[in-house]
Amino acid sequence: MTTRILTGITTTGTPHLGNYAGAIRPAIVASRAADADSFYFLADYHALIKCDEPARIQRSRLEIAATWLACGLDVNRATFYRQSDIPEITELCWLLTCVAGKGLLNRAHAYKASVDKNVEQGEDPDAGISMGLFSYPVLMAADILMFNAHKVPVGRDQIQHVEMARDIGQRFNHLFGNGKELFTLPEAVIEEGVATLPGLDGRKMSKSYDNTIPLFGSVKQLKDAIARIVTDSRLPGEPKDPDNSHLFTLYQAFATAAQQAEFRAELIGGLAWGEAKQRLFQLLNNELGEARERYQALIEKPADLEDILLAGAAKARKTATPFLGELREAVGLRSFRSQAVSGAGEKKKAGKSARFVSFRDDDGSFRFRLLDAAGEQLLLSKSFADGKAAGLVNKRLQSGEALDVREQDGGFGVWLEGECVAQSPAFADGAACQAAIRRLREALAPAE
Ligand code: TRP
Repeated sequence: MTTRILTGITTTGTPHLGNYAGAIRPAIVASRAADADSFYFLADYHALIKCDEPARIQRSRLEIAATWLACGLDVNRATFYRQSDIPEITELCWLLTCVAGKGLLNRAHAYKASVDKNVEQGEDPDAGISMGLFSYPVLMAADILMFNAHKVPVGRDQIQHVEMARDIGQRFNHLFGNGKELFTLPEAVIEEGVATLPGLDGRKMSKSYDNTIPLFGSVKQLKDAIARIVTDSRLPGEPKDPDNSHLFTLYQAFATAAQQAEFRAELIGGLAWGEAKQRLFQLLNNELGEARERYQALIEKPADLEDILLAGAAKARKTATPFLGELREAVGLRSFRSQAVSGAGEKKKAGKSARFVSFRDDDGSFRFRLLDAAGEQLLLSKSFADGKAAGLVNKRLQSGEALDVREQDGGFGVWLEGECVAQSPAFADGAACQAAIRRLREALAPAE
């Protein structure tokens, strides 16, 4: 059973050490688990909501892409792409916008905070608020639901958004799923064990506090940042308290247990702060040195990065394109050709003909059912690893070619190329089974 993990990184800034320890490093580790199917992407449409400086957007996309690759993300295992390279996401965003309650979005923290601030300042409540900010959670729901993610690792501030994605997905399933789960309902994951790094001044490391340590700056930049770490005024030789030192907390996030114990003992033994900073510099420089070189090499070849990301987008679209096709079908954006086949007199919810319903199983695999006109299940397909394989078999069954139907297990199976690709339920008796086979042949007979 594979778990699909998906997360997005908004491309407005330059990654710092806090991003590395809190998000990048754990995500890359998670992507290496045998049962993980990871989707990591640059949320560059989301970046447009907060930033109207094209040069900054472009620079940040490049830096963040290079950072993830330099830190060891294996793009052959994970799917790594830019949100804006997947047109299906914006298309899905509209389908979801049409079912998302305005009342739900009114409650989004980010939007509410902006309204509250306006009101506080005696401004019009909507001053400066774009529809992008208001709809931000719907776009995020599209990111998540497009790939049927099970787990979404995020910071605490994003939990509400993942819950909204669940709400919106559930509503869509209810309206258009015919009792099936079109969308997997995602869960937010907060990694408890992951370090939240203090910044130079001891507050949480954050760009907005200007207290960050750059991840892939020059050696000099790293040294200078470390020199700015605030410490207490104990003199060399005086014992230091490691548990009240954010310099020690920073060290801990990157050191082995043995290194931590040694450093702790040295501080208690009176190590000078200047020496302590030198130790931290060495540790970080070791941890980041090789990745920094890879980072520089990548940044210098933006065309190669472009190729890697476009390949990632192509990989993601192998899932997104057929799935969006199903969703368009589900809401009624169907080809007129298929309507001609199923009869022009289709009445709403009349269910005049048999139909295929595709879905994702709990284990993430792709399956479909064939339901007869009365909604009874005629076939349940085997599990397919990807939606495309499921779609191909589905198409073959509908192609009108002669069916290889074999009675088995109190029901029947349909075989293709020497393999049983779908099975009926068990029937009460042989007559019921024969009747179901007739309905199956009728349902899959070529149109006249
Ligand atoms: N909004 C997220 C953030 O600012 C980034 C993001 C966009 C995201 N789409 C996503 C995260 C989908 C997880 C899943 O952190």
